[in-house]
Amino acid sequence: MPKNKLNINDIKVIQAPLAGISDIVFRGQIRKHSLSCLMTTEMISSEMLCNNPNPRIIQFEEFEYPLSFQLVGHKVDKMVKAAKIISPYASMIDINCGCPVKKVVVSGDGSAMMKTPKLACEILSAIKEATNLPVSAKFRLGWSKSQENFIEFGKALQNAGADFVTLHARTRADMYQGSADWNKIKLLVDELDIPVFANGDIKTLDDAKKCLELTNARGVSIGRGIMGDFTLPYRIEKYINEGIIIPDPTLEERILMLKEHLHLEVLNMGEINGVKFMRKFYNYYISSVRNASKYRSVLVTLDNEKEINKVLDEILLIHSKNLV
Ligand SMILES: Cc1cc2nc3c(=O)[nH]c(=O)nc-3n(C[C@H](O)[C@H](O)[C@H](O)COP(=O)(O)O)c2cc1C
Repeated sequence: MPKNKLNINDIKVIQAPLAGISDIVFRGQIRKHSLSCLMTTEMISSEMLCNNPNPRIIQFEEFEYPLSFQLVGHKVDKMVKAAKIISPYASMIDINCGCPVKKVVVSGDGSAMMKTPKLACEILSAIKEATNLPVSAKFRLGWSKSQENFIEFGKALQNAGADFVTLHARTRADMYQGSADWNKIKLLVDELDIPVFANGDIKTLDDAKKCLELTNARGVSIGRGIMGDFTLPYRIEKYINEGIIIPDPTLEERILMLKEHLHLEVLNMGEINGVKFMRKFYNYYISSVRNASKYRSVLVTLDNEKEINKVLDEILLIHSKNLV
């Protein structure tokens, strides 16, 4: 199984976990460009996995590896049991200590784990011992501005045996508002011996470059930046490994990517579901176009691939003639 090939030192770019977004098509499109980007599953509830170990949640195609499985939960026994279930399929395991959503934090999961660092450490070391896999954790700056504890939290996880950590440089109270504070990532990098991956608002190669220069992080974890540009992980890796800067995709290239994404989702889910699913992505693909929100509001009303492609062609035509 390819999962054994993972060498932590080779990881430069991580596809951040994206619940409801990252499916087999999404990962396949990233892989077309980057063979080494570490993919991550969307968060998998340890409770759900223990109650119903459905193979569809844990079995992946060979091209999706290296693949980190992200677990969410706060009960040591459930997290260890879930980790054992996934361990034959996982290149490594990531512990979710960053999800801000109310229904997750209410039971002490996700970013609420930052309030219980001892428990987070207990879970991490128990999973490592039970599976013998590399284990990482993804967390935020803290619960709120006045409760920022990312340095103590990171140090505690390092002592518990974390192979690396990913810091999303916002607090739980920020949710997704405001800007990620990359200066805080630098503070963590300076304090830890294990690799730190920078996360939050890295949407272009230039963002990655600036963030890495500022923070000296080992690499980056990208979520929304990939949602309109599947070449981004590859281009960041090329920059980190060889210093080569490949320009951002043109609008024409983005629209081609969008059409292909749409087509593959239609094949994967059927036209009704595929078209509905793709509504989450338009903002990202056409964000650079003038009147993007106007086009998006049209695209989300369409329910078949042919009509969507027609509107995309119109956008391209208008844009290329500068008729916006
Ligand atoms: C739709 C969506 C789903 C997400 N799902 C997860 C998840 O399952 N686990 C997790 O740790 N973070 C999740 N996140 C947070 C992202 O991994 C990432 O930390 C955040 O979006 C900031 O990075 P970005 O600016 O590169 O997107 C999600 C974010 C979004 C927008």
